[in-house]
Order: sequence, then C-alpha cells, then structure tokens
Amino acid sequence: MELLLGIDLGTTGVKLLLINRKGKVISSNSHEYPLSSPKPGWAEQHPDIWWNATIKAIKKITGSLNKNDEIVSVGLSGQMHGLVPLDSSINPIRPSILWCDQRTVEECKIIENKLGKKLIDTVSNPALTGFTAPKILWLKRNEPENYKIMSHFILPKDYIRYKLTGKICTDISDASGTLLLNVKKGVWAEDIIKELGIKKSILPYIAGSEEITGYVTKTASKLTGLKSGTPVVGGGADNTCAAVGTGIVHSGRVSSSIGSSGVVFAHTDNMLVDPETRVHTFNHSVPDNYYLMGVMLSAGLSFKWFRDNLGQKEINIEKQTGKDAYNQLSKSAANIDPGCEGLIFLPYLNGERTPHKDPFARGVFFGLSQRHTREHLVRAVMEGIVYGLMDSIEIIENLGLDIKQIRATGGGGKNKFWRQMQADVFNKPVVTLNNDEGPAYGAALLSGVGVNFYNSIEEAADSTVKIKSIVEPDPDKHDVYSDIHRRYKELYISLKDNFRNIRY
Ligand code: XUL
Repeated sequence: MELLLGIDLGTTGVKLLLINRKGKVISSNSHEYPLSSPKPGWAEQHPDIWWNATIKAIKKITGSLNKNDEIVSVGLSGQMHGLVPLDSSINPIRPSILWCDQRTVEECKIIENKLGKKLIDTVSNPALTGFTAPKILWLKRNEPENYKIMSHFILPKDYIRYKLTGKICTDISDASGTLLLNVKKGVWAEDIIKELGIKKSILPYIAGSEEITGYVTKTASKLTGLKSGTPVVGGGADNTCAAVGTGIVHSGRVSSSIGSSGVVFAHTDNMLVDPETRVHTFNHSVPDNYYLMGVMLSAGLSFKWFRDNLGQKEINIEKQTGKDAYNQLSKSAANIDPGCEGLIFLPYLNGERTPHKDPFARGVFFGLSQRHTREHLVRAVMEGIVYGLMDSIEIIENLGLDIKQIRATGGGGKNKFWRQMQADVFNKPVVTLNNDEGPAYGAALLSGVGVNFYNSIEEAADSTVKIKSIVEPDPDKHDVYSDIHRRYKELYISLKDNFRNIRY
C-alpha cells in the first residue's frame, strides 16, 4: 500500500503520522525533547536535538511497515517563527531561538520605530517578540560574530528538510511568520529587509506547501529507513498544517484549538488585516489564500497550571485509578453554574498576544468571595480560556468574516463539557471531526497533493475530514456568558497599568 508520512516538529516533541490515500491513520510515533531557557524569558532548542528525535521516530515507523507498504511522500510541519541560523557549511551556528522566546522587546521597538506604518502595509503584522525578524536583529546586535558567519536562515521544520534532502528552503506559510514576507504578494519584502539592514543573501527559497522540494538522500535513507529518492514537499507552519488536517481550507471555516496555547484560525480567500493588528494575517498553505489567527499564550497551559498547583487530589486519584486528572477537574467544574457566581479568571500567565499584545499581563482571579470553592476556581479557569478565544472570534467577525460554525480541536475539542461551553460563549454550533490528529495529519495530506494522490489541498482535506458531532448553543447560557465576557474585557483595561508594576 502507498502511504504518506507527516512529520510535525513541535515545541515539546516531534510527532509522526502515517496515513493511507483515504486518510486512515496507519501508525504514529512521537519523541519528546527538552526546551532550554538559559536566561529568564529565553527559549532555545538545538536543531540536532530535533533531528536526532526525528530519526528515532521515523525509524520506528519504517521499522514497523508491512512488506507491501511503501512511504511514497513526506510532508513537514513545524513550530512557527523560530530562527535557525546556518553557517556556510550548513551547520547551525547556535541553538535555535524559538517562537515563545521573549528576548527581543528592544528589537521590536527598533523595527516599529524604523518602519512605522510601512510594516503593517507590507508584512501585514506588527513586530512581536515571537516573530523571526526581531530574532535576526537580536543576533546582529548581540552576537555579531554569529551574524557575520550566518549564510542562511531557515525555520525549524526546514532543518529536518535539509537533513532529509540536502535542500535549503522554506514554505510560504512559514515564510509569512517571519515578518519579512510581503504577505499580499507572497514574496520576500526586499525593501523592509534592506531598511532593517538584514543581509538579503540569508533568505531561503520559498516553496509552495504541496511543492516537491527535494528527495531523501542516501545518507538520510540509511539513518531513517526511508527509501532514498522519496519526495519531501514544502509542508507548512504547524497552524496551517493543523488547518489543512481539520478541513479549514475554504473561506469562512474557523477552528478553535485549546492546546498549550489557544488558537482561533480563520481561512480567508481575500487578505484581511486587523487595523489594530490584534490577530495575525498570514499566508495559508492553500495557494493564494490567507488566514487570520488569534493566539492566546496560555490556554491549556492555564488549566495545566491549575492541575499541577491546585489539583493534587486529582493527580493522586489519577495515579491510583488511571482516571484522567483533567477530566476529574472538568467534571467538578460542571457542578457550578455558568458565570461562577461572579468569579472571573484572566488567563494571562505568560503575558498575552491576542488581543492585548502585552508581555506584562498576568493571570488574575477576580471577584473571590467566601462562597467560592475550588470547583468555582476550576470552572473560572475553563471559562476564562474560552472568553480569550471569544476575543479573537469577535475581532475576526468584526473584520467581516461570516462565521457559521466552529471546529473545536485539541483538548477543548475532546472534552464535551468544554465544547458545550464554547458553543454557549461563541453562540455558534461547535463541531468535532472524525480525526483530531493535529498538524502531522495536514502535513501528510500536503505530501499526498505533492505526489498527485489528490488534485488540490482542498480536495485532500474535503475527501478525508468529516464532521463527527455537533453541539448547539444554549441562548440563556449565552446571555449569562456574554455579560461576563464584557466584564472580563473591562477587567484587563482596569488592570493594564498595574500589570506593568509587577516586579517579578
Ligand atoms: C503562532 C505561534 C505558535 C507556534 C507554536 O503564531 O507562535 O502557535 O506556531 O508551535
């Protein structure tokens, strides 16, 4: 059987998925790796850690293939925005600086001051610490010896491409997350690059997500068990691959994902830009299409924080009985009425991107009274995360997108109680899909387009992704939630200046 391999190079590990032409998952494997933080706010990973983990995971997959099975194409997906600087021998000069690294506050100010409105007019996004261009400037200002010997830069998944095929390039969706791409035209923004004093020679070739970018080399074949000559397609940013894998490939389709971060992803065929740049505008993997994306930095992470610090009881029960601690906590939250009797949680544990673009914001429990119990706190955390997603949905709707339905993925999609809460807060039907395999699934589909299994990315997604379940919003609950969401938004405005005075 001819099979497609999707590789998603995430922040905590690499995940591989093998699917057949019909989109059925045949096998999967993953391998975790650490994230290092040499200084507060820094987040780095050495590309060789990625490659070693990927070799192990591919070997597990190729080692378990049946005699008649063959991997005919490979697609790559990966964490966005990370800077991988390479020297002229194509070795990483230093560890990669990742999307969640916060060291570039100063460089972002420099970019904004230098380019002003031109930045939004050309690259359609503001200078945020997560993006790649400020990282390149940081390298130039703080490690000039490294900047000097940088002959190329690529994004994280592209390092795996280089190791598999010997080719250096990126894809259109990842290129758009660098802050160096003219998003409208889909080409490097040469004037911006010149004004920022960045060497033009370091820019990689930009491929289409479904374009074949190279073939597995003999060396990579020996290391991984993949057949030499297997094509590797451009692939995409993890968020666009997740979109392809969940059928967000037509205008108006929107997903809400609660993973560590929270993402609202909306496909648009025309480019839409939020004048206040609270949501990002990037290039989709679907040729000549775009997407709007709101990113919460601590969505599932807030729930994890609660479990790890206040959920010891549930953790112990999980150890004894195997009952998932998150499910226990969410069950207890269901005992409390919507709105938590006035308790509101702001999920800004690590600052917030959408809608506030505020690295200083912090988490808040507001409105605690003697009546409140731990169950109220759990529910407030779950509600606060959904209000954060609603902030993005409101912005996207106000930009003119008609959202009829939301596809829920990640932890928020798997949990029925949380799904209903989303439907009630969003006041829209929330659906789940036949698969929720994440970005590796979309990467595998893209690789299938590359070898003509499907005629287009849309056909690949439409023929494999189906709606499994639907929850309808409850209008009474929506009224309660929308009143609290209004107060949730006011709360940030009241506290904004106070956040800046927190000294830790
Ligand atoms: C998107 C973003 C994150 C990373 C995580 O802008 O920064 O979603 O892609 O992998």
